[in-house]
Amino acid sequence: MTKKGPGGLASASRACTQCRVVFLVGFMGAGKTSVGKLLAERLGWTFEDLDDRIEQREARTVDQIFAESGEASFREIEHQCLREFLTGPDSPPRVLALGGGAFAQPRNAVLMAHPGLLSIFLDGPPEELYRRCELQSSSRPLRRNLDEFRKLYETRRRYYMAASLRIDTGGKGMDAVATEIVARLRERDSVKTLEGVSG
Ligand code: S3P
Repeated sequence: MTKKGPGGLASASRACTQCRVVFLVGFMGAGKTSVGKLLAERLGWTFEDLDDRIEQREARTVDQIFAESGEASFREIEHQCLREFLTGPDSPPRVLALGGGAFAQPRNAVLMAHPGLLSIFLDGPPEELYRRCELQSSSRPLRRNLDEFRKLYETRRRYYMAASLRIDTGGKGMDAVATEIVARLRERDSVKTLEGVSG
């Protein structure tokens, strides 16, 4: 059950009064989906995973799309789904977890760079991210071996660094990461308030 009062739902919701959508971005294994669900619960927002939207729209798994249609097709579908998510009817505030490659596509990052939309980069050492993926049941077509995984992480990191916030998830549990995000959102809002007052 969600707590009310200090640190609970009421104060957590106030932590992000300025934004309507929080995007969780970052490499495979960063915990975007797990943290996203926890964060949405604390904010009293809805949660969605972009890969789920893709799979529903295509009636195929991500794995099948990669195998049958290739990565370029997957990226096109991913872009269309992100567009749909953002241009749908007026919706309540939402947390969206993106697949690891989505924010590294400049056309997606452009769609997400608008007032009221906040991107958070969940980072971590690639070795740890690789191990986390190993413990999960979902198969990932772009996770082949540690060496390639590390190289892809290095290539993408500069894109992820363009997110509004970066949270280091290394050695942390997902619950602690969600707590840290709420605290950072709250901090960020007070900074904006102070700036508003002094300006
Ligand atoms: C991908 C990451 C996956 C999924 C697809 C492509 C990537 O999502 O979108 O396999 O390019 O890094 P997760 O980051 O949730 O594993």
